[in-house]
Amino acid sequence: MQRVPLAIVGCGGMGGRHLLGLKALADSGLNNIELVAACDVRRENAERLADNARDLLGTRPAVYGDMEQMAHEMPGLEAVDITTDAGSHHRVACRALELGWHVLSEKPLALTIRGCNRIIAAQNKSGRMLSVAENYRRDPLCRLTKALLEAGVIGKPYMLLDISASSGNKIIILPWRHYKHVGGILVDAGVHNVDMMQYYFGDITEVYGKTERFEAIRFKPEGISSLSPFYEHWSGEIPAQIEATAEDSLLAILHFAGGFNGQWTAFHAAHGEGFGRMMIYGSMGSIRSGGARSGVPPTVTLDDGGEMTADTLLNLVPDFRLDEITARLYGSERLTSYQIPFPEADRRLLAIEYYEFGQCVLNNLQPEVDALVGRKDLAVCYAAFESSLLNRPVTLHEIEAEETGLFEAEINEHWGI
Ligand SMILES: NC(=O)c1ccc[n+]([C@@H]2O[C@H](COP(=O)([O-])OP(=O)(O)OC[C@H]3O[C@@H](n4cnc5c(N)ncnc54)[C@H](O)[C@@H]3O)[C@@H](O)[C@H]2O)c1
Repeated sequence: MQRVPLAIVGCGGMGGRHLLGLKALADSGLNNIELVAACDVRRENAERLADNARDLLGTRPAVYGDMEQMAHEMPGLEAVDITTDAGSHHRVACRALELGWHVLSEKPLALTIRGCNRIIAAQNKSGRMLSVAENYRRDPLCRLTKALLEAGVIGKPYMLLDISASSGNKIIILPWRHYKHVGGILVDAGVHNVDMMQYYFGDITEVYGKTERFEAIRFKPEGISSLSPFYEHWSGEIPAQIEATAEDSLLAILHFAGGFNGQWTAFHAAHGEGFGRMMIYGSMGSIRSGGARSGVPPTVTLDDGGEMTADTLLNLVPDFRLDEITARLYGSERLTSYQIPFPEADRRLLAIEYYEFGQCVLNNLQPEVDALVGRKDLAVCYAAFESSLLNRPVTLHEIEAEETGLFEAEINEHWGI
């Protein structure tokens, strides 16, 4: 199979996870990507990823401390996978496109809408392909949830609720997720929530939101989470406490283009009991999403049919089929649940992401999550911030066209964009 020569740029926690995704892709028999370089401003991180790549893939990629030297020394390089922190995406992606590379970028596409607009302009100029690495929607059980909605099993859409509470005053993964100019948690994690909401329910057109910061000081967590193993290597660099500059609470009423509404609450300063749930209601019943990477199937509850989950759902969607790579990695074309540990489920989704990217580059196809989808996901987050500041509903058009951007102004100023 033809393979796209690719470099991973950003060799921290997510760069390491992407490498595991490449290993899953290599093992799938459908490998269309060849890792030829690892690049990080912290060269030791790139060296480490290259060592791990040698152990996992059998070949050690070349190591670089910056993209310019990589461009100079690797004329055959065709694509980069950007897994740097969110605040750097616009600079790295714009330069990569200028250098003539196709881009797979971790979410958020950029840290601000202006950053996204710069990337979109650079992409249009370069004619290269850009895909945003949104992994949640690629989970086979999220695909099943989407198929159930498309089949109209709950009737006419009424309402979507996405509510979660977690984290108290703990640092979430790494300190930068609490710094407004690098990537606050409501943007960093929020784009995932928004991507799923728009994937399931269509475009959001207007947002009325309230955002706040409850915890100004955050502390290094003592326990371990499902993500800890990926960041273990750098855990000694996390200070005992930090001063957070980014908001940690978001409450928003969302209006969808389809005419229905939703409520999104992301509360990352919840002490005590945490929880998270997405519910979708229609005129005939509801769907409870099992979420991504959990293996938990969606649950459909109908007024005249009771509760259905796992295999019983298949009768509702006789045409549901996963695509070839997903079916290959998860072992079935019509999957309704799985019992796979988080790290393994995670790497399979990343393998799917890579495969789609490779196919798009090789066959000049449009990726599922392109730059416009990535910008819209981010715009919903910023519409909530902007609405909170202006104390009025804000349309997505206002945010994407930069007709208003008071909240983001400080971040754009910080980066000089
Ligand atoms: N999809 C998901 O589930 C998921 C999960 C975690 C993180 N992410 C995303 O992945 C990205 C990286 O997050 P992370 O947790 O790995 O961060 P991290 O801080 O662990 O790693 C970032 C790495 O990028 C390097 N870097 C920074 N600027 C650079 C530049 N200009 N050129 C080259 N290297 C540079 C840093 O030195 C570091 O090694 C973020 O966009 C984040 O939102 C996605």
